[in-house]
Parts: sequence; C-alpha cells; structure tokens
Amino acid sequence: MLSGKKILVGVTGGVAAYKAAEIISRLRKLNAEVHVAMTKSATEFIAPLTLRTLSANPVYVDMFDEPKLWNVEHIALAEHVDLVIVAPATANMLAKMAIGLADDFLSTVLLATRAPIFVAPAMNHAMYLHPATQDNLARLVDRGIQIIGPSTGFQACGTEGIGRMSEAVEIVESLTRFLSGGGSLKGKKALVTAGGTQEPLDPVRYLGNRSSGRMGYAIAQALQEAGAETVLVSAPTDFKTPPGVTRISVQTALEMYDAVLERFSEIDVVVKAAAVADYRPAVQAEQKIKKNGTNRMIELVPNPDILAELGRRKTSQVLIGFAAETENLLANAQDKMHRKNVNLLVANDVTKPGAGFGSPTNIVSFLFPDGRRIDFPQMSKLEVARNLVREIASLLDVETKE
Ligand code: PMT
Repeated sequence: MLSGKKILVGVTGGVAAYKAAEIISRLRKLNAEVHVAMTKSATEFIAPLTLRTLSANPVYVDMFDEPKLWNVEHIALAEHVDLVIVAPATANMLAKMAIGLADDFLSTVLLATRAPIFVAPAMNHAMYLHPATQDNLARLVDRGIQIIGPSTGFQACGTEGIGRMSEAVEIVESLTRFLSGGGSLKGKKALVTAGGTQEPLDPVRYLGNRSSGRMGYAIAQALQEAGAETVLVSAPTDFKTPPGVTRISVQTALEMYDAVLERFSEIDVVVKAAAVADYRPAVQAEQKIKKNGTNRMIELVPNPDILAELGRRKTSQVLIGFAAETENLLANAQDKMHRKNVNLLVANDVTKPGAGFGSPTNIVSFLFPDGRRIDFPQMSKLEVARNLVREIASLLDVETKE
C-alpha cells in the first residue's frame, strides 16, 4: 500500500521508544521506504542497531557523524522524505518543535523538511496536561502538524491517565490513510459549530458561556483530515482555523442559526458542538448602560433551538448533537437525543475534571437512538473528534444504503 513512499520515523527519548520498532516494521511490511533519526536520549531506550535492522537503512543520531549517504545529510533527508512521524514525541521535543529549536539531527530535519509532519506524544499525564505542553501542541496544530493520540491508561511511572502513546497499529493506519489520500469522508460536506455564542446587552457587554471552541475546532480538523469539505461556523474563540477548513465567524445564536440553516440543504453531516445561548436580552442598549446604584432586571427572550430546527428539517443528513450536563448525564442526554431527532448524541458531564469547557481533554459517551451507547475514557479532544468521525463514516454509510 505504501510502495514508493519515503517515511522518516523520528524517535525521541521516552519509554514508548520500543513501540517505534513495531511502527517501522509495519511500515516496511506495507512496502514503505523507511528512514530513522533518533535523539541521543532515544538510544538509551532502544538500540539504533534494532531500528537499523528493521528499517534496512542507516540510523541517524549525531549531526557530526561521518556522512552515511549524502553530504549535508539533514537537508538531503529532509528533502527526500514524503512524510515524517515523530513517535514517541516527548514533551521536550514538542517544545523544541514549537519554538523551532534545531540543536540535534532530528530537530534540524524537522525544521528543514517541507514534508507533512505527524507527532505521537508520549509522556506522564501531568506533563501532557501542563499548559506549556498544551500551548506547544496548539502551536504545532496551527502550523498544520498532525497529532496522533495520546491515549489513556496505565503509565510507565505507575499512574493511570492520559499520555500513553497510541498503539503502533493506530499510528500506521493514520499515516496510511493520509498517504493514500483517501479519507473515509471524501466527497462529503460537513458543517461544525463551535464556541460559545455572545448575546449583547449593550456595545460593551454580553451574556456568554465558558465554551472555548476547542472541541468544535478539533472536530472540524478531524472531519477535514477524513476528506470532508468542512465549514466551521464559529462563535468568537482564540483558536486558528484548522488548515483546509472554511470558517464563518458569528457572534450571536441568531447569527449562528442563519449561517447554519442557509447551508443545511447542501450538507451531509452537521455536528453541533457549540454552546448556544438559550436566551438573549430582549433589548440591546445602543449606548453603554450606566450604573445608578439600584437593582436592574434584564428581560430575556428565548433564542431558537438550532439543533431542534435541523432535526425537524432533516432529510438524508446525519445530525450530531452534544449535551453539556451538570447532573443526570445519561437521562438528560437521552431526552435531548430524542427531542432534537439526532443520529448520535455526544454526552459530556461538564463538571468532571478533564472534561467539558476549556479543557484540552474530554470524557464523553456516544448515545444512539437504537439504544446503543459507547463510553470513552478521558482523551484529547482531537481523539474524541477522530472517534466521532469513525461513527459518522458508518452512519453516512447506513444513510446512503437506505
Ligand atoms: O468549547 P470547549 O471549551 O472545548 O467545550 C466543549 C463543550 C463543553 C462546549 C462541548 O463539549 C459541548 O458539550 N457542547 C454543547 C454545549 C451545549 O450547549 O449543550 P446543550 O446541552 O445546552 O445543548 C444541546 C445541543 O443543542 C448542543 O448540540 C447545542 O449546540 C444545541 N443547541 C442548544 C441551544 C440552542 N439554542 N441551539 C442549539 O443548537
């Protein structure tokens, strides 16, 4: 499947370095030409000889080793390969990549290459969730670098949590999907809503909510990666639009309603991850409201329920809703799923640590109208999004066959 494809596997110094051997072996079985660059620390975890034998190519570690094939090896290798995967990618390597540091062979190739770069983070859960690591990952995503994993489970340091490197088979599947150019949603049109709507009270104040937009942006990225032509209707957020996604910026629930409804008839799948205000101020003051030392009442009027409206108008579209709950998660989510006529509802208890608003991770359950339910452990919002895309692909398949 990967005949003629040249892949550089970058290995950095974490205990998951042993999994690099399986990645290389799987890539070779798919007929890829595999090259390997290791950091010095990686060689403490796995011997270069092992990776040289599996890749059937020299392994690069030191900038100043005798050249193996080319004169300026880091540049020649950077230009030669079709794709780079760094697995495992330590917090240190992610930080170096984020600031463009090139102080060893691998980081220099990463700076010099124009090939697509994938990283598979692997580290202790506290290191993964640290704001510095999350900022670095966000910067890499902004630059078009694709993140695979990490997953949740037992960690080498003896704790449980998020930060385990994805399994070799999943990593190779992601690379194969990318290199063979075919996503599961190729030819499909998707629309995602993200962020929290803002309902103005006057020119300087609004009623809002805690949604950062991260969940919706991750879904837009995953849909685009899977080949769908993706439109992101976004309330104000700090995130950059994922590469290849078309963004339509809105502020209020009414603007979001118009932007979504206008496009709905041409869309195959809609994912409503946005936190939409259920009410808006009845009156928007033209000038800044002055304080006068007394109590004030704000009259609120209901906003339209966009998802419920889509549920009423739906023909062949696959409709995905979210439920952000603070109590009775499953009962409330099931009620929303039926009331809004969706094909799949993603339920998240937004009071749980590691889930909901603003967090880089989420803990969700997928509910289906036929009673099926899939519960997921804590995982990055991008992994939640990729799991959702897998379900969307099979729902679209079902819809098409009917
Ligand atoms: O953005 P992040 O910081 O990453 O946080 C992610 C998230 C918590 C916002 C996300 O995971 C999530 O749960 N999104 C849905 C939030 C929400 O508004 O839930 P709800 O239970 O109030 O609404 C149910 C569904 O109806 C949602 O799909 C919502 O988009 C939709 N809705 C709600 C009200 C309305 N007027 N119109 C709608 O379309």
